[in-house]
Amino acid sequence: MVEWSDSERNTIASVWGKINVGEIGPQALARVLIVYPWTQRYFGSFGDLSSAAAVLGNPKVANHGKTVLNALEKAVKNMDNIKGTYSQLSLLHCEKLNVDPDNFRLLADCLTVVVATAFGSAFSPGVQATWQKFMSVVVAALSSRYF
Ligand code: HEM
Repeated sequence: MVEWSDSERNTIASVWGKINVGEIGPQALARVLIVYPWTQRYFGSFGDLSSAAAVLGNPKVANHGKTVLNALEKAVKNMDNIKGTYSQLSLLHCEKLNVDPDNFRLLADCLTVVVATAFGSAFSPGVQATWQKFMSVVVAALSSRYF
């Protein structure tokens, strides 16, 4: 069971409150597909991913980026049971989508880069530390049904 201090809870709530899902979600997923191009294999039905510009302009990528961030909001709202919150989603990515769980970490890292870029100096080392703890718990929860 992960312990969260009041200060950590406040930090996550505050970061989340400043995240624009419609902007950050598409940018984070696009970054994964551009920086780690082998991840494109999971999105064969999304159409043109042939260049960075194509990925950034692809409406299916943008939509799915929003879907992913909306799912992340569930973790923000259920910080004491992130594992349970993502149990079915973990199973879906494992058994149906066959997504290698290493990719969750890649998405978490790209999301952190996008958030840091958007927030600038407000994303202090202390805020980053708490945000990365949160994302590590999310990654572990999404990986939990693989074993
Ligand atoms: C924070 C990490 C992630 C979250 C919260 C997340 C969340 C979701 C959600 C909510 C869905 C829709 C499920 C449904 O239709 O019931 C989904 C679908 C999907 N996810 Fe993830 N996901 C994450 C990471 C990844 C990664 C890293 C990959 C692959 C590199 C991936 C590949 C997919 C694919 C291929 C689909 C189906 C897309 C479609 O055809 O519409 N996901 N994900």
